[in-house]
Parts: sequence; C-alpha cells; structure tokens
Amino acid sequence: MLNVALPKGRLGEKVYAMFEAAGYECPSIKENNRKLIFENEEKQVRYFWVKPSDVAIYVERGAADIGVAGKDILLEYSPDVYELLDLNLGKCRMAVAAPTHFHDDGQKTLKVATKFTNIAANYYAGLGREIDIIKLNGSIEIAPILKLSDVIVDIVETGTTLKENNLEVKSTIVPISARLIANKSSFKFKGEAIEKIVDSMKIQVKNND
Ligand code: PRP
Repeated sequence: MLNVALPKGRLGEKVYAMFEAAGYECPSIKENNRKLIFENEEKQVRYFWVKPSDVAIYVERGAADIGVAGKDILLEYSPDVYELLDLNLGKCRMAVAAPTHFHDDGQKTLKVATKFTNIAANYYAGLGREIDIIKLNGSIEIAPILKLSDVIVDIVETGTTLKENNLEVKSTIVPISARLIANKSSFKFKGEAIEKIVDSMKIQVKNND
C-alpha cells in the first residue's frame, strides 16, 4: 500500500483529481463526510487529508510515502525529502510587498513581517540588507498598515488581498507551485510503485498545460 498525504482544501481537490485521472482513483474520498483516510485496496493506494503545511512532515518522517506540498513550504522548512515533480498547480509567487508609497532607502534596519522567516532571511541576506524579522501567523497584510513592519514577505496569488489593503509588490522572490514529494527510504523500497505514479502524473501535468 502506498500512503499519499494530500493537502486539505481546494488545491488538494485538484491534486486528487490528477491522481484519479492518472489511474489512482479512490471513489470513497468523494463521499461527503469528515473522514480523513481513504483507501483503494485494488489500486494499493491510501490517501489522507492533512493541513497543507504538514504534508512535508508526514512525508519526511515516513508516515506518508509521497505527498503534495507547496514549494513555499519546501523552501521554508527544507524537509529531507525528494522533490519529484512540479504539478503546475497552485501557482503563485513569494514576494516582498509594502504600501504603494513606501520606498526602501536602505538607511535603517528594515522591519519585515512574515510567516516565512527563513525565506525572508535568506532573501535579504543575499542582498546584504539588514532586517528585523517579525514572525506572524496570518493576515500579514495588516502589519505595514499598522506600522508593525515596513514590508511583508508573503504569498501573492491574484494580488487582490494586496490591492484591497493599498499594498503592492515591490519585488518577487520566487515563483511557487505544488510539488510531488517522496520519503527518501520509501523511494528506495517502494521505488517501482512511486516511479509508476510519477510517470502517470507527468502525463496529467502535460494535460493541465
Ligand atoms: C494567502 C496569502 C495572502 C493571500 C494572497 O493567504 O497569505 O493573504 O493568500 O492571495 P491573493 O493574491 O489571491 O489575494 P491564505 O489565504 O493562504 O491564508 P493565510 O492568511 O493563512 O496566509
């Protein structure tokens, strides 16, 4: 049985649809209930819904053989997993944003609010810019409005949240999308089954284009 960690939510539903189209369907997953684990014995696959930011933990520790995680989480936490395939879903970008009038003159320490402290630290270290990181857990956009920070480092998808809060992207750090990841020892011991899924998923990625 191959254990697959799926990210709960809208992205996860799209991801499951790809697995289904790839020939790894599990009809019970579509039943309207609160169950979190579903399996199809015939296809030797078991799916479970987990919080998107937890997928990499399940895979790294081997509770899941494979899973789907955002590149943002992989960059932020550097889990010890294999990244097998870009699913070309959940596309967005990690960006620096600030109030439209803000300009970083590089004079004083820049206050940066973010959930992604490692990504922000690495980005500004690369620029040689001194920063003070303020770790938040959500609604990051509020920070510069209330002068808690000068800028934010956050995910931008449509840009609507920024716009509605009078913020704008000042620079893009990295493009983000959903990635198929695998546990390292599963990849060794269930390699054949995993390779087969990857090949079928590659065809689905092409169909998505
Ligand atoms: C993300 C991100 C932004 C928003 C961007 O939040 O933090 O707030 O999406 O999307 P947009 O560019 O399409 O407006 P998410 O909904 O993941 O929730 P969060 O507040 O927990 O980060």
